[in-house]
Parts: sequence; structure tokens; C-alpha cells
Amino acid sequence: MEKLVINGGKSIFGKVNINGAKNAAVAILPAAIIASKGTSTVDNIPNIEDINCIEKILKYLGCKVEKASNSITIDSTEITTTNADIEEVRKMRASYYFLGALLARFKKARVELPGGCPIGVRPIDQHIKGFEALGAKVVIEHGAVNLTADELIGTSIYFDVVSVGATINVMLAATLAKGVTVLENSAKEPHVVDVANFLNSMGANIKGAGTDTIKITGVEELTGCNYSAIPDQIEAGTFMIATAACGGEVIINNVIPKHLESISAKLIEMGAEVIEHDDAVTIKSKGRLKGVNIKTLPYPGFPTDLQQPMSTLSTIAEGRSIINESIYESRFKHVDELKKMGATIKVEGRIAIIDGVETLTGAQVRATDLRAGAAMVIAGLIANGTTIVEGIEHIDRGYPNIENKFKALGADIKRIYE
Ligand code: EPZ
Repeated sequence: MEKLVINGGKSIFGKVNINGAKNAAVAILPAAIIASKGTSTVDNIPNIEDINCIEKILKYLGCKVEKASNSITIDSTEITTTNADIEEVRKMRASYYFLGALLARFKKARVELPGGCPIGVRPIDQHIKGFEALGAKVVIEHGAVNLTADELIGTSIYFDVVSVGATINVMLAATLAKGVTVLENSAKEPHVVDVANFLNSMGANIKGAGTDTIKITGVEELTGCNYSAIPDQIEAGTFMIATAACGGEVIINNVIPKHLESISAKLIEMGAEVIEHDDAVTIKSKGRLKGVNIKTLPYPGFPTDLQQPMSTLSTIAEGRSIINESIYESRFKHVDELKKMGATIKVEGRIAIIDGVETLTGAQVRATDLRAGAAMVIAGLIANGTTIVEGIEHIDRGYPNIENKFKALGADIKRIYE
């Protein structure tokens, strides 16, 4: 079993380079299979477990895939099956994007219901509603979603909830549909825009991504292209929060500062300093920060994916912090782990009330999901003494080289194999 061992209590200083966005890459790579001509090379792909899973699924479907250090080339001209009957599908959430992509090109798809972090019920009813509205027949049996359609015809779809996954998936399905599809109440996350830009580079006609109304005019076919994924807003935010928590000064390179505004604003409110550059931010933190109130919301609100790291920071802030998790009902599994380290937290439904303590103390803790893992790493970095983080396979799904990046900033952190 692999674990992280952290001797905490050190400030961090230096520069860190942020990788390409996980949640953009895991949608862009399945989207590439809509191209029936040419190859696509996508750059700025993070080296993480979720991408390894996507690569295996692509190969299973018949794509030729070549991986370089941080780019992937996909030739999807000769797909051999539309039945993604491979266990990697169950290991991750984003495997559901193969439904929209296969449906667009082949008018049929079979993909098992997705896995992913255990943070709530996570239904896919809005994806299904969109596929059905475009003309697909949807049957769920033996744990898999089966889609078939004679033809897909553009229509107007109003999402009942703002969903990143449903917005992207239905956008994929509509790229080759006849006529115009209008998606209302769409998610506005930067990775929704990134996937739309990628599809447009392949020849799609998508307008309005980044607003709540996306208009997709169906085209005949897509052709492979060269593309570079956006930087990972959540990895960047994790390093910003870690610097605020540990104290120190870190330049976070390869970011789009606009995407980080909700995070910068909260850290400034707590007393940290954030300086924006063209494609970097500098964060400086000294002394104890002040408690803060946070409500997670769809973009441009505060991202749910940084709620857990932010609650670690709040455990040592002065005074009371109130954190309202409005997206996922079970995203507080890290709280019991933080309590083992001396944090004072009370959870009532979707609200965590955190009364700041002077410091945390090292303990043996568990990463219960991906961002809970990041929260425990930050807790270990600030705690007095030694923290051992187990369950780090969750962390490896989304953070490339997390221990080496923190080590380069002066942290005492290493991976052990037992
Ligand atoms: C994406 O999940 C991300 N995953 C998540 O990142 C992220 O937390 C989430 O968006 C919110 O930003 C990927 O991109 C692979 P949603 P997704 O559909 O698309 C409800 C991480 O840590 N809903 O935007 O699955 C849902 O239950 C991960 O990197 C429905 O009710 O999330 C939730 O309450 C974890 N019906 C809300 O909408 C649906 O059909 C938002 O979910 C779909 C969603």
C-alpha cells in the first residue's frame, strides 16, 4: 500500500507549475472520437490515473492512441465497437462522456454507469433527458446505459439543475445532430468552454459556451485537430490554499487568473495577499488568517472541488468559519479525519461549522476521495509532528506528482510503499 508521510509545520516558498485541467481533459479525449477523419493531438494533458483510464477505454473502442510526456494523439477513424465493456468505465465519473460522443457519431452507445468520488448520489438524469430530447432511446439494464437512435434532431433543452457533466455530454451528442440544439441553464465552468473550443476546432458550430445558453448547429462531420487544454483551476486553487495555510510565498505558474477569482477573493478576505500576473498568481501568507463563510456554487461561484481543502485552512483560522456545501450532500467525509488532528468541526446537514484552533497535530488519516485527499495533505503540511495519509490512490486520480511539487516548495513529504 502506498502512503504519504508528512512532517508538518514548515512554510512553503518557490514556484509551482500547474498542469492541464483534469476535468477538461477527461471530456476532451472522449470528444475526440467524434472525428471520423484525421487525428487529434491534445497538449497539456495531466499525468494522472483518470487519464490512464480514458486512454484504456479509447484503445478498447478501437482508437490508436499515442502518448508523449504531456500530450496524447488519437486516431479515431476506425472505431471497432460502441460497447465500452471495460472495467475502467466503472473507476471514474467521466466515462459517461463516451455516451454523448459515441451517440453523436454512431447513433448508438453502451456504457456502464460511471464510478467516481463517493461524494453524493450523483444522478445522470439530466444527461438522459438531453439524449432523449435529441431523439435517442435510452434503456438502463444490467447497470449499463444503452443508447440507440435512428437520427438525432436538434431541439431546445432546459436543464433542471446546473450540471457540468450533462451540459458537456449533451453538447457532444448534439454536434452532428440535424438542425439547431439550444441548451438552457447550462453550466458555465471553464472546462465547458474548453470542450466547446475543442469541438469547434474539429469543425463543430457551437456558440455561447460560458453563458447559460449554448447553441449548437449540427454539422456533417468532425475532423481531428491540434489543441491544448486549459490549466487546472482546482490544482492551482489547491496550491493557493496550501500556501495560505502553511504560510510563505509561492508563484503559481501556468494558470488563468480569471478562473481563480472566487478563490483569490476568499483568500484575500481571510488576510492572505494574492497578486495576479498574465498567466500566474503569487500568493503570500503570514501569521494567522481570519475565519470565513463559504457557499459552494456552480461557476463563477466558489467551486465545490475546493471546499475540502478550504475547510482544512479554516480549521486553523481565527474565529468561526461556516461552510455551506450546496452541490454534493456527502462531501464532508474529510471532517472526521480532520477531527483526528485536533480540528473543531460540527456538521449539520450540508453545513460545517468550524471553530479555528491554534494548530493541528499529526495523525494517521485517510483520503476518502480525491479532494478530501488534497485536504488531508494540506492538513499534514500545517500540523505539528508526523501525518500519514492513506488512500492516496484517490489523490493520484487527479493530482500529478503531488508530493514532488510540495517537496520542491520546501515541504517535508514523501511517498512510502508498504
Ligand atoms: C463535475 O462532476 C466534476 N467531474 C466534479 O469534479 C465537480 O465536483 C462537479 O462537476 C461540479 O463542479 C468531472 O468533470 C469529471 P455536475 P459532474 O453534473 O459533472 C446534480 C473532482 O473532484 N446532477 O455538475 O458529475 C449533481 O448530483 C470532481 O474533480 C443531477 O441532479 O457534476 C450535483 O448535485 C468530483 N442530475 C449537481 O447536479 C444530473 O443528471 C452538479 O453536478 C447531473 C447532475
